[in-house]
Amino acid sequence: MSAHLHIHESRTELFEQAANHIVSRIQSVLEGNPACHLALAGGDTPRGLYSVLAQEPYRGQIEWQRLHLYFGDERCVGPEHHESNFRMVRENLLQQVPVPESNIHRIIGELPPEQAAADYARTIASQLPHISGLPQFDLVLLGMGRDGHTASLFPRTPILNETQRTVAPVFVERMNSWRISLTLPVLNNAAEIMLLVTGEKKADVLRHVLQNIPHAEPLPVQRLTNGGRIHWFIDLAAAKQL
Ligand code: 6PG
Repeated sequence: MSAHLHIHESRTELFEQAANHIVSRIQSVLEGNPACHLALAGGDTPRGLYSVLAQEPYRGQIEWQRLHLYFGDERCVGPEHHESNFRMVRENLLQQVPVPESNIHRIIGELPPEQAAADYARTIASQLPHISGLPQFDLVLLGMGRDGHTASLFPRTPILNETQRTVAPVFVERMNSWRISLTLPVLNNAAEIMLLVTGEKKADVLRHVLQNIPHAEPLPVQRLTNGGRIHWFIDLAAAKQL
């Protein structure tokens, strides 16, 4: 997997540089387009990045009125639930920036999973430009789990084999819970992907991924194939085995 590595001393420096990269990407997209379509990552790591984006100087460098925000995945819970990715983004970013309500495209996790997935597929189909017959995000932020999952594409789950749907529900045995996730076709159709990985616990799986070490089966994150347009933002702790 060819990709761009951005390795930084600390999480703080990583979040600042990732924020700079995001601002540059948004500004570049808006030079030639009426809007920029950005899918946000869930989990814990991006909290710090969203907080940085919500503060100066980054806050003032983003045309929030022309930015549309989406989610790479969501837990099948409502927006007030402590596990909701939307709640995490609202608390760390949306409440602090002037992005119009109509530009925030939440996955309705409280719907039955199939309905939530179909609803979100309609949303991205109607909002996003299409390239190669698929909706195209200008930028997708993703994290990576210790098992090499990304978004809600977990190892040995049927969603990894999805070739038609852009959004699908997935039952995650390990967590005994349903999730809704963008699928590989739409992730690999993104104009650019940014992966945020921090902490020593991710160092081993990161080595496997970035050094293409053969694995019993490809790790989900290794299924991201638009290598030339993948940017990894990694702190030294996560990079220690590279
Ligand atoms: C989620 C994310 C998930 C996350 C990874 C890494 O909904 O949790 O989509 O893919 O990015 O699990 O999570 P951390 O950043 O918390 O380690």
